[in-house]
Amino acid sequence: MRVVTTITALKAIIRQSKSEGKSIGLVPTMGYLHEGHLALASKAGEENDLVVMSIFVNPTQFGPNEDFESYPRDLARDTKLAESVGVDIIFAPSVEEMYPEDGGITIKAGRQSEILCGASRPGHFDGVLQVVTKLFHLAEPTRAYFGQKDAQQVAIIQTLVRDYNFPLEIRTLPIVREADGLAKSSRNVYLTDSDRAVAPAINEALIVAKEEFLLKGNADAAIKLASRHIETKTSGKIDYIELLSYPDLKTVTEKTEHFLIAAAVYIGKTRLIDNILFSLKGEATC
Ligand code: PAJ
Repeated sequence: MRVVTTITALKAIIRQSKSEGKSIGLVPTMGYLHEGHLALASKAGEENDLVVMSIFVNPTQFGPNEDFESYPRDLARDTKLAESVGVDIIFAPSVEEMYPEDGGITIKAGRQSEILCGASRPGHFDGVLQVVTKLFHLAEPTRAYFGQKDAQQVAIIQTLVRDYNFPLEIRTLPIVREADGLAKSSRNVYLTDSDRAVAPAINEALIVAKEEFLLKGNADAAIKLASRHIETKTSGKIDYIELLSYPDLKTVTEKTEHFLIAAAVYIGKTRLIDNILFSLKGEATC
């Protein structure tokens, strides 16, 4: 495995691999790897000749009062973990390498970014699309791997790829969870012991809502039940809990086939997100 930090070095490897006819799997991450990231990398290894993982805490997707500075970083640890699941190349650029100049051009995520995480994190998805576009151009992947953990992110990236004809396939994998249901996240390290003890209530609430909705078909009632579960089990502050159609992220109607129930909750100071994708027949993936 090689760790490269410059665009020039990455492009040389990509050019060589392409000339040998190799397929390339790209796994974009912000590092501090856990089993969710590693599952994406393993799948990329099964499906491609070369696996490139990017590790870059992207400043343009963080708001002014968010955790860009304190976001956990440990490249030495990440390197070992990535190597253990067969990553070939880690691309870990500096901010200056990725954004040497600001030419003032931005990519604006559309309607799908105005709700859920986009509503509470203005500009977040614009920053995600900016970095992902650059990574797609730099790594020229055959396939790029994303987690359903960030279902809205996947839906928006799929729209970018479709509408702007990026020549690659988006592959999505299910959420990897702790034994008690808490979705794995790099931000879980922020949780105190007492936060950690109540955090599984988010996933429980989503399950409760899904079951209620499948039983009675009333989205508002399902959301109320989920909110009550979180309010009873935690002293957390709910940012949102919503039940929407997927992947278009609109209000559910009688014609909706795929549903997304998603929540963001502050447990202590930590904002955690989780979701379940399902159809009327049961659980589904992106
Ligand atoms: P990051 O939060 O590091 O996540 C990298 C990838 O891992 C994303 O596709 C995310 O959905 C996936 N992931 C995270 N936790 C997961 C879990 N528990 N189960 C399955 N997959 C999981 O998402 C980002 O970084 C950034 O926005 C990025 C796309 C890299 C752009 O900067």
